Amino acid sequence: MSTVTERGNEAAADAAPGESALEIAGLQTWYGESHILHGVDLSVKRGEVVTLLGRNGAGRTTTLRAIMGLTGRRTGSIRIGGRETIQMPTYRIAHCGVGYCPEERGIFASLSCEENLLLPPAIGMKGTKGAGGMSLDEIYSMFPNLAERRNSQGTRLSGGEQQMLAVARILRTGANLLLLDEISEGLAPVIVQTLARMILTLKSRGYTIVMVEQNFRFAAPLADRFYVMEHGRIVERFGIAELEGKMPVLHDLLGV
Ligand SMILES: Nc1ncnc2c1ncn2[C@@H]1O[C@H](COP(=O)(O)OP(=O)(O)O)[C@@H](O)[C@H]1O
Ligand SMILES: [Mg+2]
Repeated sequence: MSTVTERGNEAAADAAPGESALEIAGLQTWYGESHILHGVDLSVKRGEVVTLLGRNGAGRTTTLRAIMGLTGRRTGSIRIGGRETIQMPTYRIAHCGVGYCPEERGIFASLSCEENLLLPPAIGMKGTKGAGGMSLDEIYSMFPNLAERRNSQGTRLSGGEQQMLAVARILRTGANLLLLDEISEGLAPVIVQTLARMILTLKSRGYTIVMVEQNFRFAAPLADRFYVMEHGRIVERFGIAELEGKMPVLHDLLGV
């Protein structure tokens, strides 16, 4: 059986750094008659951690959902690993190696931690070796807290454990591009630190991460690049090296 380290190297090898993982151009989307995104441009390289900032209602969740094919009509271009996915249904987008962790986490309260982990199928990704998904053993060595809690019911898990489980669960599918929506929300600072270490571990193993965050202090030390959204548009983009100089702008836009 392969170890987590081997698995990680394999993921990193599949994801040659510097290559484009996600390329969004002119993305517009609607929920019914409501026009929500008005031309979003965003690009993420393999192995990068990119954070989407913005006030409530800016369109960050909608952007993640649009990437996953979960919104209504979408126009523009979304290329995942070079493939155009704008017209694809969600299950085919998942097959391109994308995993979405929604804000509400979706942990089944009546199932155990392990049963929750076993829910998603390991999807055979095109261009990757084997079935692609992480085994339970691999997940447990990466998330020792979950190994300890494997038989605990969903309702018995703490907020932090539930969040970890929600992220671990998408790794089972074999996704290498992770869309994480407000994972630090409502959690105590010490738990948020555990989640920060989890993000850094995933990054070191070659995963590409797009995360929506309200908690700027959590996101700032983790992300390579930042995008700021307002009214369904990207209004600022900058790298970690420019963060210091951008603080006044962020203060105006986000109040941080
Ligand atoms: N299912 C929906 N139907 C109609 N409008 C929606 C729906 N979900 C979100 N919206 C609207 O889309 C806009 C962007 O929301 P959202 O992407 O959730 O913002 P954020 O995640 O940045 O807080 C908001 O004005 C919100 O009211
Ligand atoms: Mg949101």
